[in-house]
Amino acid sequence: MSDILKTTLGPLVLKNPVMVASGTFGYGLEYSDIMDISAIGGISVKGISLSPRPGNPPPRMCETPSGMLNSIGLANVGFDVFVTEMMPKLRAAGATVIANAYGTSASDFAELCRKFDDVEGIAAIEVNISCPNVKSGGIHFGVSGKPAAEVTAAVRQATRLPVMVKLSPEARDLKEVARAVEEAGADSVSLINTFRGMSIDVNTRRPRLGVGFGGLSGPAIRPLAVRMVYDVAQVVRIPIVGMGGITCLRDALEFFLAGASAVQVGTANFSNPTVAVEIINDLREYCTNRNIRPADLVGKVEMG
Ligand code: SIN
Repeated sequence: MSDILKTTLGPLVLKNPVMVASGTFGYGLEYSDIMDISAIGGISVKGISLSPRPGNPPPRMCETPSGMLNSIGLANVGFDVFVTEMMPKLRAAGATVIANAYGTSASDFAELCRKFDDVEGIAAIEVNISCPNVKSGGIHFGVSGKPAAEVTAAVRQATRLPVMVKLSPEARDLKEVARAVEEAGADSVSLINTFRGMSIDVNTRRPRLGVGFGGLSGPAIRPLAVRMVYDVAQVVRIPIVGMGGITCLRDALEFFLAGASAVQVGTANFSNPTVAVEIINDLREYCTNRNIRPADLVGKVEMG
């Protein structure tokens, strides 16, 4: 594979800067029959907790204009099953695995991330302080700098793996949270997770999601996400991984220009599971034709 797309996010070196976002690509293995999952820059797997979680009652997803709502509630198989049953297959497939970690306290996060430290083949940990669909943890840590920094510091002490912290667009002051996690030892930040939304079936007069609310993602949120990446890029030195409604190369380029060093493709995977690989191929052609690397685009939006 051409080196032109090789990307460095602090201590994390990726073969290319296009990843798939947690919760939109299962554990990666679900797609290994239809594509070479090792071609993807990184697979941020479904958020994993110490113990298995059943998640929220259905319906857990619904389509909205240019987007979708989800209220999965971080349903997952738990650390042990992920490590014993899935990691061997992910290693064999040559996947670059980013472990999206979920805990309900700083010590819970630390315990989980200490365990990830011993797992062969984990490239980095993405600390989920931004899921809007859980009663504790998730977004509750991501709304302000203090709890976000406490979780980040606990994870930092627990692992030698690169630490990426996934931020919420619903933070009271996103720039403050980004600075706080940088100071607490994050190697990079990824943003944005979803916005809390609601959709109502006017015939039944009931919410279309089982728990009433869910996280909005998809192209509907892209301009908000690009602006937030731009804002955060003004205040942190660590690399930014941008996401929010990316469907094609042009969308990804917006995030690079706003200040992201890498991107994650999320909701678009549901309608086209190979979209990330298509963007990688298009990005390679774009960079080769111009004799540039993705890093040459980062933060290069021309304002005013
Ligand atoms: C969910 O499982 O509810 C979504 C995960 C997330 O938003 O981080």
